Amino acid sequence: MSESSTWPPPGTDIDTPSAPRIYDYALGGAHNFAADRAAAEAFFTAYPDAPLVARSNRAFLQRSVRYCVSQGITQFLDLGSGIPTVGNVHEIATQLNPDARVVYVDNEPVAVAHTREIIADVPNVAIVDADMRDAEAVLHAPETQRLIDFSQPLGLMMVAVLHYVANDDGIADIMARYKSVLAPGSFLVISHTTEDPRPEIEAVIKKVFEEAGAPIIHRDRDEVTALFGGLEILEPGVVWTPEWQPDESDALHAEPFRSATFAAVARVP
Ligand SMILES: C[S@@+](CC[C@H](N)C(=O)[O-])C[C@H]1O[C@@H](n2cnc3c(N)ncnc32)[C@H](O)[C@@H]1O
Repeated sequence: MSESSTWPPPGTDIDTPSAPRIYDYALGGAHNFAADRAAAEAFFTAYPDAPLVARSNRAFLQRSVRYCVSQGITQFLDLGSGIPTVGNVHEIATQLNPDARVVYVDNEPVAVAHTREIIADVPNVAIVDADMRDAEAVLHAPETQRLIDFSQPLGLMMVAVLHYVANDDGIADIMARYKSVLAPGSFLVISHTTEDPRPEIEAVIKKVFEEAGAPIIHRDRDEVTALFGGLEILEPGVVWTPEWQPDESDALHAEPFRSATFAAVARVP
């Protein structure tokens, strides 16, 4: 949060738990309130791995951004960005390259409002309030047009968001449209929740999300691979999040399957 920003954003309902703020709390962030923390603790009691899954996913996001910058990427389009705290794309990218440009996209009002406050004074970073399933709205948004040069390689981030996009939403067409704007040398970064390989844990996860009224779609390794639509997936392929360029500091390093999330990065030839 910048020093001159207002926290919480005017009009924020701090008494109703919010999914992006619960995720922020799981990451150890400061953009959450008592109601979010109480809901989060209840969730973690039912599913104790949840904060580890969130942190492992965010750690993958950070490693993938570092990798993209190391490959010369200076601009990122981050679909389903959430609240950009705790080492999100613009923090990592601009640490490595102060000229990096980032466009965040989210359609959840709390995430969008908090993002606006956090990036209010940050140059070359913007938020588009749009449903990422509407690729035209995202691609033609003024913020996207101002900051992204589609003639140059782009880091397209779809991290922990595609589990909200059903096959019936036309996910194959949505992916194809986004891929159609990627210049050679671009990278597509995906992480995607899948079934926990432990049936007893998977049953708990399903129940927790059903009761929260927040259905999510699991995809298996082949289905996640298919999302890349034939792009060259870089080594080590579609793996558990802690296995992508592993880092011993990842909380799930020793038991990557507990992430219940696949991750991969592809390069556009
Ligand atoms: C689990 S968070 C992931 C945040 C960040 N990408 C990360 O991995 O740390 C998922 C985010 O996707 C957003 N989201 C879900 N469906 C979306 C959609 N159709 N369009 C835009 N954002 C969406 C949610 O509001 C939420 O902020």
